[in-house]
Amino acid sequence: MEDVLTAEEAARYLKVHPKTIQRWCREGRIPAIRVGNRYRLRARDLERPDLRDEEAGRPEPRRDPERERERRARIVAIANQKGGVGKTTTTQALGSVLAEKGERVLLVDLDPQASLTASLGLNPAEMVHTIYSVMCQYMESEQPPETRRAIVDIDTGLALVPSNINLSAAEVTLPNQVRREYVLSETLAPVLGSYDWILVDCPPSLSLLTINALTCADSCLVPVAPEPLVTVGVGLLFQTVARVRRTKLNPRLEVEGIILTKVDPRPTLTRGVIEDLKATLAGKIPILGEVRNSIRIQEASASGMPLSRYRPAAEATAAYREIAEVLYAARRAA
Ligand SMILES: Nc1ncnc2c1ncn2[C@@H]1O[C@H](COP(=O)(O)OP(=O)(O)OP(=O)(O)O)[C@@H](O)[C@H]1O
Ligand SMILES: [Mg+2]
Repeated sequence: MEDVLTAEEAARYLKVHPKTIQRWCREGRIPAIRVGNRYRLRARDLERPDLRDEEAGRPEPRRDPERERERRARIVAIANQKGGVGKTTTTQALGSVLAEKGERVLLVDLDPQASLTASLGLNPAEMVHTIYSVMCQYMESEQPPETRRAIVDIDTGLALVPSNINLSAAEVTLPNQVRREYVLSETLAPVLGSYDWILVDCPPSLSLLTINALTCADSCLVPVAPEPLVTVGVGLLFQTVARVRRTKLNPRLEVEGIILTKVDPRPTLTRGVIEDLKATLAGKIPILGEVRNSIRIQEASASGMPLSRYRPAAEATAAYREIAEVLYAARRAA
């Protein structure tokens, strides 16, 4: 009897997102039978080289040194050691709106909590190839990092390097590593030419993982939920950024700007906090935009879909689109 697979099994086999398989089935790209709302596929239909090409379809950079700088991905670390301020939401939402503009975007989940991985519909516990497995493979062998093995397609132009709880071991393994601050940088190096943007979702701490993200990033984006005492926390993060520059781990690291998240426009308290923050920033660091408190955002993370897919017309999506335009324009102008 012939081998019949579910969409999830086919996705694991081809190393793509289950939603990609569903889309291919819908578009008739792979023959499939629909049983209820699920697809069944024949194993032999997955052997076509063009499907493999799609998997490997993240083209190698063209060797054109003049365009190398322009083509190289801009790495943006989304960081704030305070928990629950919207780092993961911002990473996911910005990634999806940049991809919608035709940019090639890779999201990197650098948090052992793996909220980014889960919010994109994947089960972290089932992930075999993750950011940590690639870092380990690289740290334990002489071989270049096999980063592509861990990349999962999420949507057109949008891909993810997932994470899971295993990454928490990095706090033990990384400190003993030679050039321990550069492990992420070296892990991402093989795919820099294949993307326009790499957005790194940092954990809520100023740990060695966050330092790794700041060391490899071109810039750092700071989501801030306007609550009392927020300026203290932001100050600590800026000190860390300054240390990363000063110690020459990454002298060219910029702070791209702040994104105000979960903003409730009504209370005067919120406005007061925003004014205090502006005074602290003293015009040196821009506030790139404001995302209001929105139930749509919470629904999107629960749906397993990127925000711009789940609610393309939501106010929060529009806010992230405007912020993406600012990032995009700044990059063009650079
Ligand atoms: N603008 C918003 N409106 C309403 N809820 C939001 C908004 N932004 C984020 N949230 C919700 O707040 C919670 C925390 O957001 P998120 O996970 O993005 O924060 P985080 O900074 O990544 O957290 P952690 O520090 O734990 O990694 C989530 O439930 C998310 O859905
Ligand atoms: Mg998070």
